[in-house]
Amino acid sequence: MSDTRTITIFDTTLRDGEQSPGASMNLNEKMEIAQALGDLGVDIIEAGFPIASPGDFEAVREISGALRDTTICGLARCNEKDIDRAWEALKHAEKPRIHVFLATSAIHREFKLKMTPEKIIETAIAGVTRAVGYCDDVEFSPEDAARTEHDFLCEVVERAIEAGATTVNIPDTVGYATPEQMGETIEMLVNRVPNIDKAVVSVHCHNDLGLAVANSLAAVANGAGQIECTINGIGERAGNCSLEEVVMAMRTRGDFYDCRTRIETERLVPTSRLVAAVTGIQVQRNKAIVGRNAFAHEAGIHQDGMLKERTTYEIMRPEDVGFAKTDLVLGKHSGRAALADRARALGFRLTGQQLQNVFEQFKVLADKKKEIYDGDIAALIQQELDDVTNEEWSLSSFKVTASTDGAPHVSLTLERGGETFTEELSDGDGPIDCVFWATEKITGISVVCKEYHVRSATIGRDAQGEATLMVEHQGQTYRGRGVSTDTVEATIRALLNAVNRIAAALDDGAAEPTSTVD
Ligand code: KIV
Ligand code: ZN
Repeated sequence: MSDTRTITIFDTTLRDGEQSPGASMNLNEKMEIAQALGDLGVDIIEAGFPIASPGDFEAVREISGALRDTTICGLARCNEKDIDRAWEALKHAEKPRIHVFLATSAIHREFKLKMTPEKIIETAIAGVTRAVGYCDDVEFSPEDAARTEHDFLCEVVERAIEAGATTVNIPDTVGYATPEQMGETIEMLVNRVPNIDKAVVSVHCHNDLGLAVANSLAAVANGAGQIECTINGIGERAGNCSLEEVVMAMRTRGDFYDCRTRIETERLVPTSRLVAAVTGIQVQRNKAIVGRNAFAHEAGIHQDGMLKERTTYEIMRPEDVGFAKTDLVLGKHSGRAALADRARALGFRLTGQQLQNVFEQFKVLADKKKEIYDGDIAALIQQELDDVTNEEWSLSSFKVTASTDGAPHVSLTLERGGETFTEELSDGDGPIDCVFWATEKITGISVVCKEYHVRSATIGRDAQGEATLMVEHQGQTYRGRGVSTDTVEATIRALLNAVNRIAAALDDGAAEPTSTVD
């Protein structure tokens, strides 16, 4: 009989992933991603850090109510308030998990927490005990474990398990470990902690040295049973272990790792595209598994080999990770069912009303454009998801002129609560700068533009233009996205999208950064 292990996939796209600068998501976007993660087959979704903001709390609560087959996890520091708040958000979940964490490395103990090792143990035990009082499934993370002295790490892990932790997660918080070292640490814990068999050993690797996937695999090879990861590897700084890479490594090299996961790998590309569209963090072309070039063969010798026998140059089949054979999909005569089908293939799950709205926009676009590609559909859907956010400001009309002969001119009319506000300006370094000034004057929200991109959503001169931008307001980064066949209009919509996010965050009282600092 085979003793192939099934590795638990713990997805933290909605928590650690959301900590990527500018990646904060609204409730609709989080729900959309949570549904996609459920369809993908992840075992656990870390849906947020409930104490961090009302928005995080709401997301954990809503996702707990909506996904009944997946374990839903909420993060908490080792203190009563955090844990109580996490439970408040999770209590209606079918399968709740509380994840408590406390830093253990000497650097964190001395400079961040100012706690003695004894105090750390006492606090960890108290935190796990409180969480266990609420639910049976409790995960404990000694933050910065990879830089924690082995003897102390063993003691903390043993005491956390004794207090009732059912999963002990070993984070490489700053991405400092190497694969050999991570493997040795897991092996050391498995051999030295007497009650280790009472808990699942997990690993949580950051990618500062580009080693997060390698470190996670080394942990698995040495006994870890759970991997924490994110779609597209997004997360703090250089990000986390990439779910699609680690899952496909275990599947493709099952001969070596002798383990499997429950991931529906054909959903990887649609889920990756969804996360990229929602967060605005695009995947590089050459990204393993889900990048546009991941299965593109350019060299003649390779193409020749591929034609003779695919496996000469391909270790995975594109269809196994969800690449469609063609992306030319719909036209003027396509119906709602075809659109719904394509939307699902792209990773979106639309409600009846959302589908109806997108379908109406689709018909308008189909009148302007003969061929509608996946990129067009994704752009329309994303626009719909953006639109249902707490839209405080919306575009009523605009007129922009630019020439080589004089200052640009803008006349912009925005709407808020049924009232319209107009600003006329002849100033700025070009029409886009002028649009920024006019928007700022009307909304009273001033921003510093950190990034601005315009790209075509698909091929062809009639393609929709997609504008994305990152702006800073009071030290926080916000993203915006807008789509139109007119690129100036797309830019205005992107700016309003960012302004609306700022307005919503200010209403939410979430101007403070989501922080994992104790
Ligand atoms: O990187 C880290 O240490 C974390 C913990 C909260 C698990 O994200
Ligand atoms: Zn982390």
